[in-house]
Amino acid sequence: MKYEVSSGKYIGIIEELRNYFLNATQTIYDGRNSLKMIPYEESDLIVKSFKIPHIINKIAYTFFRDSKAKKSYKHSVKIVEFTPEPIGYVEYFRFGLLSDSYYICKQYHYDFTIREPLVQQGFKNKEKIFRAFAAFTYDLHNYNIQHLDYSPGNILIKEIEDGYEFKIIDVNRMRFKRLTDTERLENFAKLWAKDEDLKLIIESYAKLIKMDKDEAISIVLNASQKHKDKKNLKKRLKGKRVVD
Ligand SMILES: Nc1ncnc2c1ncn2[C@@H]1O[C@H](COP(=O)(O)OP(=O)(O)OP(=O)(O)O)[C@@H](O)[C@H]1O
Ligand SMILES: [Mg+2]
Repeated sequence: MKYEVSSGKYIGIIEELRNYFLNATQTIYDGRNSLKMIPYEESDLIVKSFKIPHIINKIAYTFFRDSKAKKSYKHSVKIVEFTPEPIGYVEYFRFGLLSDSYYICKQYHYDFTIREPLVQQGFKNKEKIFRAFAAFTYDLHNYNIQHLDYSPGNILIKEIEDGYEFKIIDVNRMRFKRLTDTERLENFAKLWAKDEDLKLIIESYAKLIKMDKDEAISIVLNASQKHKDKKNLKKRLKGKRVVD
């Protein structure tokens, strides 16, 4: 196995991670990857277990690229203010090739994700949340952070005294670069938002980057529709139902 850990405090769980994960009972998400909450010492940890890659990717991840677990950790330590506190990653190998791998961070006690105000009718303080979300994204972009999977489930929101705090997760696909205005705006394309909601968000964001709001909105609506069309085409090809 290979690992990195943020502090000696977690060596115990890191070195036995596979067993901890197998025995943990609190599954918080089960999809392509699975996530469990594991209390350890005084912390509640979230452990994300990445699906075992197929043979070609096993080779690629072993010899040519960093695994998703390692990338999640490496990216998180670069953006600590913007993501739940990173703890480490672990990679297990079988016959010399990458097998299961895990990313570990602290649990973030959020109240909702950006999905809820985007899909629930009459969500409380929706406009205020959208303005705060635009400001958060502006911050992220000014730190040269481009989240390549900026989708609703990856944006966690907590209500705090004077507004909202945001954290991003699922950070294995990111770029660190100075973003152009178009790149900044196209980053909003994966929210799967209704046009009227996107308009509210982008109006706020355009003000921050001092861009004409109609021009900004048209770039985002275009990019968002392209993303929806692409995803819907994929769904249709798989015989799945299409919603938007
Ligand atoms: N640190 C955390 N604190 C609280 N909840 C978390 C944390 N990390 C993940 N979650 C919860 O688990 C869900 C899934 O996490 P994540 O987005 O990393 O996995 P995923 O969507 O399966 O990844 P992928 O898109 O690669 O399949 C999140 O939407 C969130 O509800
Ligand atoms: Mg996700």
